[in-house]
Amino acid sequence: MRVLMVCLGNICRSPMAEAVLAHLHPDWTVDSAGTGAWHVGERPDRRTLAELKRHGIATTHRGRQVSPADFTRFDLILAMDAQNLRDLQAIRPADATARLELLDPDGVPDPYYDGPEAFAAIYTQIDQRCRMLA
Ligand code: 4NP
Repeated sequence: MRVLMVCLGNICRSPMAEAVLAHLHPDWTVDSAGTGAWHVGERPDRRTLAELKRHGIATTHRGRQVSPADFTRFDLILAMDAQNLRDLQAIRPADATARLELLDPDGVPDPYYDGPEAFAAIYTQIDQRCRMLA
């Protein structure tokens, strides 16, 4: 199974989701990307890294922007929120083979302007949803 997690900046939610899913399924190909390009090449937000570390999970991910090739490279592309999903639908190429869905139908809220408790909350939500993928 090849899964791409997508959020806006690729520094908070999607790198967390990538690391959690890869930890649960070491044999899967798991990556993450952002619809935006502001944080290309950057390490995940330190609050995401701290929350992952609390759960014994490490990541070496660097920010990247989602590309048309991702729609054939992955079996499943999981958007963090409804806006991410709309942005992905807008760039989805005609030859896309990947299924495109929300990780959680309720959406994973953007924690960027919130405190560490928001990162703990999205970790719980992301972990629960990732455990439902098989
Ligand atoms: P993310 O959070 O989409 O979960 O990575 C954000 C990070 C950065 C920005 C927005 C959301 N930003 O506007 O720079």
